Amino acid sequence: MRPKIVAANWKLNKTLNEGLDLVQFLLSKTNEHDNVIKILCPTFPLLYPIHQILDKNKKFYLGAQNCSAFERGAYTGEVSAAILKSVGCDYVIIGHSERRKIFNETEDILKEKLHIALKENLKVIYCVGEELNQRQEKLHFNVVKNQLENILSLNEDQLINVIIAYEPVWAIGTGINATPKQAQEMHQFIRETIATKSTEMANNIPILYGGSCNASNASQLFAQKDIDGGLIGSASLKGDEFIQIIYAAS
Ligand code: PGA
Repeated sequence: MRPKIVAANWKLNKTLNEGLDLVQFLLSKTNEHDNVIKILCPTFPLLYPIHQILDKNKKFYLGAQNCSAFERGAYTGEVSAAILKSVGCDYVIIGHSERRKIFNETEDILKEKLHIALKENLKVIYCVGEELNQRQEKLHFNVVKNQLENILSLNEDQLINVIIAYEPVWAIGTGINATPKQAQEMHQFIRETIATKSTEMANNIPILYGGSCNASNASQLFAQKDIDGGLIGSASLKGDEFIQIIYAAS
């Protein structure tokens, strides 16, 4: 049985007080019996204050949205995987399309980040997903397969700490989600691709859907056989809506 996972990607939103208020709200609306793993990914400065109030008994965990490809040293403005671990992170998002596109993160850079994060015992939420024109040209499976190369190069001890997030770029922040059928088709493809390495790993790896996932479409998406939860952007910024998405996963 794979766990159900809902991760909140706050991106560049929420000041400290706004973030703490939202976390308090989420904690007040959940209890120790729900079986959903909930991962909150705020901006770097909010990590430690949120860590201090999070409740792992309620299956809330902390994640960062990014980490450096360097371990330590003279890299002004960077935050390393070891530092993230030391402030209470258990997870880190790597390869988000906004990092790939706006910050020019190549597959080689992502590979460095992936290895460093795993070495520091962080679990990695590794994002893949095609652009609209790639889907229109029917290249989406090839694109995602190439993006999975870094994952396929991991050994089994590393792979056990990886979660994949399929986020079609055309669905992110647009209000147009992939249909449950489109998402399921890609999730199944991702699982089959991992199975070329190990069937057991493929059966166990959680694969999340992301891209305009909200309270109205989450249940249908999460009901698909190969969708194990979601990576939620804008809908995770509103407490009531995010709670409904957690319920949809449980
Ligand atoms: P969205 O973002 O839910 O706002 O589409 C998802 C993401 O980018 O992770």
